[in-house]
Amino acid sequence: MNVKLVNQPLNLIEADLTVEFLTAQQLESHPHHKLLTLAGFKADSEQICPLHEHRLLLCGIADEESESLRSAMAAVIRTAMGYGYESLKLAQYSETAFAPLIEGAVLGSYKFEFYKSAPKPSALREVLFSTESSDGSVLDETLLQTVLTQTLIIAKATNFVRTLVNQTPDDMTPLRMAMTADTLSKSNNLECTILDPNGLEDEGMLAMLSVGRGSAHPPQLIHLAYKPENPKKVITLVGKGLTYDSGGLSLKGAASMVTMKMDKAGGCAVMGIIKAVSELKLDIEVHAIVGAVENMISGNAYKPDDVLRAKNGKTIEVRNTDAEGRLVLADVLGYAQEKVKSDYLFDYATLTGACMVALGPYTTGVMGHNEALKQAWVKAGASAGEYCGILPFNRHLKKLIKSDLADVCNVSSKPYGGAITAALFLDNFIDEDMKDKWVHFDIAGSAYTESAWDVHTYGGTGAGVRMSLNWLMEQCK
Ligand code: BES
Ligand code: ZN
Ligand code: ZN
Repeated sequence: MNVKLVNQPLNLIEADLTVEFLTAQQLESHPHHKLLTLAGFKADSEQICPLHEHRLLLCGIADEESESLRSAMAAVIRTAMGYGYESLKLAQYSETAFAPLIEGAVLGSYKFEFYKSAPKPSALREVLFSTESSDGSVLDETLLQTVLTQTLIIAKATNFVRTLVNQTPDDMTPLRMAMTADTLSKSNNLECTILDPNGLEDEGMLAMLSVGRGSAHPPQLIHLAYKPENPKKVITLVGKGLTYDSGGLSLKGAASMVTMKMDKAGGCAVMGIIKAVSELKLDIEVHAIVGAVENMISGNAYKPDDVLRAKNGKTIEVRNTDAEGRLVLADVLGYAQEKVKSDYLFDYATLTGACMVALGPYTTGVMGHNEALKQAWVKAGASAGEYCGILPFNRHLKKLIKSDLADVCNVSSKPYGGAITAALFLDNFIDEDMKDKWVHFDIAGSAYTESAWDVHTYGGTGAGVRMSLNWLMEQCK
């Protein structure tokens, strides 16, 4: 589906269907008010009413804020894709509303039909935005065109991530993730380094290796780098890439194992972010480093009671093999800090079910030592259409992951605050000079959904992509 900007008043643009967003108050003075009322349309938020004989599709909104328009646009596009129309057109609402409308269209129209024997293609081919606003004023075409180009890059990168996440564990193995990264590096002119188990051993990444030991699919470290000339900053993004998390010998229950193909969402997100960064040609050096591993059971699998030595030399007592993401990240964070001198270090991981308990299923948990930095991320999330919530560290929680046997234990001694204790575990693998430059994002809830919400349909959401590009673009100003 193409999204285009047309420098013409709305009524001169040729399209099969016109979309209008309106509040309950605006409905009162609508030319089709009577007909709409007869149809039971009250302009409730995301309520949709087609007037096919007028080639009109109306959608209610609570207000003209970005958040309302973004999800209303997604609802509209889903409905329109069920009709036989090939094109639809709409006006602008405000300069700041254009990006959310584009996101609504591109993210809302996403369908994953890879595994359907008979996919059902929609007739809808084009979404045409006029430069004219719904109040009749005309907005600056050049400015709108820039917004369109940038937003399309970001929204398509989000869909790229969704498609990676949605693939089955047998299709998207660690090796296939590495191959995908290699393909991306060629099309987007990125540097790409892959470490196989031998390379991991040479690097002393024994925690990551141990997690992957029970699997038929050997672990892979993926390091993509985007290096423009004279970058303003160097930023490293680390992603948890568990292509499947069965729990290992601390096996998950049958119900909680389903959906665990999404445990690679952090790794997929950093690949999507670097894809967009390179297409936007941002003036910052970005590294995306993924620990791609499968956590399985076998005679050779790592065990509760094992003690692992991580890359930075610290020893870890394993008491639960299902707390595997933090073990992989311990090594990948170590690798990231050894190989790259970064201004910032961010990690993205579907790390804990506890994060969902704390914040609900839509919100990314934000953790770290730097208060201002965390606040900046919450702001970036909000303006990009992602929910973020800060989960605070404290020194008492830190004591819960002490080990009598090794330097640190991979699980907490108490069953509460699990998202924070997981982040405090990661803190053991952050060098002293990086403490204030590091933020951890727990995307366990936000990365995947089994029921549609906002701009998301069933499956991967691409969590982390939009908020990170918002934050990264802010660094280039
Ligand atoms: N991948 C899971 C976390 C997860 C759970 C992500 C649900 C998305 C949805 C992680 O590896 C895990 O299993 N964590 C355990 C930690 C526990 C053993 C301390 C958890 O959350 O139960
Ligand atoms: Zn796990
Ligand atoms: Zn996991």
